[in-house]
Amino acid sequence: MNKKIKQRRFSIFRYNPQTPEVKPFMQEYFLDDLAGMTIFVALNNIRETQDPSLNFDFVCRAAICGSCAMLINGKPRLACKTLTSDLKGDIVLMPLPVFKLLGDLSVDTGSWFREITIKTQAWIHTESTFNPELTELPMENSLANEIYEAERCIECGCCIAGCVTANLRENFLGAAGVNKVARFIIDPRDRRETRDYFEIIGSDDGTFGCMSLMACEDNCPMELPLQKQLSFVRRKMLFHGLGKS
Ligand code: SF4
Ligand code: F3S
Ligand code: FES
Repeated sequence: MNKKIKQRRFSIFRYNPQTPEVKPFMQEYFLDDLAGMTIFVALNNIRETQDPSLNFDFVCRAAICGSCAMLINGKPRLACKTLTSDLKGDIVLMPLPVFKLLGDLSVDTGSWFREITIKTQAWIHTESTFNPELTELPMENSLANEIYEAERCIECGCCIAGCVTANLRENFLGAAGVNKVARFIIDPRDRRETRDYFEIIGSDDGTFGCMSLMACEDNCPMELPLQKQLSFVRRKMLFHGLGKS
């Protein structure tokens, strides 16, 4: 016996900054809700069969590249990891806030993360030069795992989009930025002192702007321990500010 396929209503934000005379609006589409369908598959389906002008981003389709993040029923999530069957009622799709809107559901997270990389100088600072004759420096497994944990960020922007501080404060580093800093603080190959980091993030645009709202960790599709990273860096900066480091 054929089960009746349910139709889902999608309400999708439309706006093209190239044609500002057309004001933003919500457009409705209807689609059969197929078993195992993700929002990414649904969007492709809409674009292929109903509206080739719909803009949204994707690359990997496997929760690796971070490019398909959007507000799905008000929550920042990855379109390629979200099943329509996990959502009740109508499905409302909006672009992530905070980031520059490119069109419809597509935003520019790349420039934002590049700026953060430059601002936090997210690379190993060392005087040593590379010597191919030397054997690799050993590192404790537990430390290597901690660094790896921080490196798992896919720069999707979900933590930033869901953070009230980031929505209010234009230059706020956000949890992803603080996570980057934590990664280099714990790396013994990086010769920077706490005061070097304090100059970059010891302000309300950095670690002190965080109000511990925890939306960042709740929204992170990679389940990064962002609260742990935020408290670790804040403690370090606070002690330095109080002259205790
Ligand atoms: Fe995305 Fe998590 Fe990285 Fe934030 S910390 S950008 S939510 S993967
Ligand atoms: Fe924002 Fe996360 Fe802090 S949501 S306020 S960065 S705890
Ligand atoms: Fe790469 Fe969704 S398409 S994370």
